[in-house]
Amino acid sequence: SRVVKLAVIPGDGIGPEVIAEAEKVLDAAAAGSGIRFEKSRFSLGAGRFLDTGDTLTADDLEAIKAHDAILLGAVGGVPGDPRLKNANIERGMLLKLRFELDHYVNLRPSKLYPGVPGPLAAPGDIDFVVVREGTEGPYVGNGGSIRTGTPHEVANETSVNTAFGVERVVRYAFDLAERRRKKLTLVHKTNVLVHAGGIWKRLVDEVALEHPDVTVDYVHVDAATIYLVTNPSRFDVIVTDNLFGDILTDLAGAVTGGIGLAASGNINPDGAFPSMFEPVHGSAPDIAGQQKADPTAAILSVSLLLDHLGLQDEARRVTTAVEEDLAARGSDAGATRTTTQIGDAIVARLQA
Ligand code: NAD
Ligand code: IPM
Ligand code: MN
Repeated sequence: SRVVKLAVIPGDGIGPEVIAEAEKVLDAAAAGSGIRFEKSRFSLGAGRFLDTGDTLTADDLEAIKAHDAILLGAVGGVPGDPRLKNANIERGMLLKLRFELDHYVNLRPSKLYPGVPGPLAAPGDIDFVVVREGTEGPYVGNGGSIRTGTPHEVANETSVNTAFGVERVVRYAFDLAERRRKKLTLVHKTNVLVHAGGIWKRLVDEVALEHPDVTVDYVHVDAATIYLVTNPSRFDVIVTDNLFGDILTDLAGAVTGGIGLAASGNINPDGAFPSMFEPVHGSAPDIAGQQKADPTAAILSVSLLLDHLGLQDEARRVTTAVEEDLAARGSDAGATRTTTQIGDAIVARLQA
């Protein structure tokens, strides 16, 4: 039987609560498939940092690299906690993993499933994927501050966009569009960010020549937030930079029934490093420890993980079980169930 080595990072806040359900679903999906998941758990995040001062050590990183894939809950403390003010966890752990493991595709699908109540009066068919660049942009830490804390402070955070980095994620997005409805939208801010926007526009135009069947359009990021609310069905594949993609995908989650349903994969398509699957949401300290978190985003991330490992049947079974559960929730049933009850209900459908 095939053995898959899985690194599990439950993390902070609601992370361990949603990962407990995701693991149950993974185990149920794997049962009888001939695949055995050999799991190792890593204690990483704000909790570990506050206890030991460690974010992600060289040993942690080497150990994680020895796995086939990673399942992550969420990490981070209460926004604004002074003990975490240097983004120790976000930069020192989460982004470090994404950068070191070369997760240049941050895949964030958005679908409004039948029966799911969303905030839009006339949502139409919502089914698009944001291909968010994962290793560059304003996230790289190319910045600094001088005269810090004075009235003359100068603070810079420079967005890095390399031809190599932009072209590879654009190629991935075109390949994905070929397998979907063949429509690709570049979202940027070329009317203001002429250099960063210019390289994205040029490379999309160049790669488009190799994909004559794919319809390409361009939307400024501010207008994209309008269309995500007024006409989300106009989107199929959106390709965008790291920061725009972060913001758009929280909005995309909200319009498709809530952030508790939004899954993601941090993918290294070359397979040189393990890819990492996690909900789009964070550690939600406001509801942590209360069994109020919806584990569906983490469970759908398991489906993305299975798909990435080539286990399409198992991935499909998980998505179907989630779809059935969503359809059965009705307009308010979800709100009355605990995290564990939702996970158990999805497992029961998988086993039915
Ligand atoms: P958040 O996503 O944690 O929470 C935003 C809102 O969504 C909150 O009201 C929360 O209760 C709600 N929410 C989130 N997940 C939910 C779920 N599964 N079910 C129901 N409601 C849910 O964002 P935030 O408050 O800005 O950040 C909290 C911490 O998480 C910060 O430290 C932040 O840096 C971190 N963070 C981590 C990740 C990650 O690990 N990938 C992602 C985003 C934020
Ligand atoms: C996300 C999160 C992260 C991001 C933060 C916590 C670094 O918001 O995964 O969407 O900005 O990518
Ligand atoms: Mn985010």
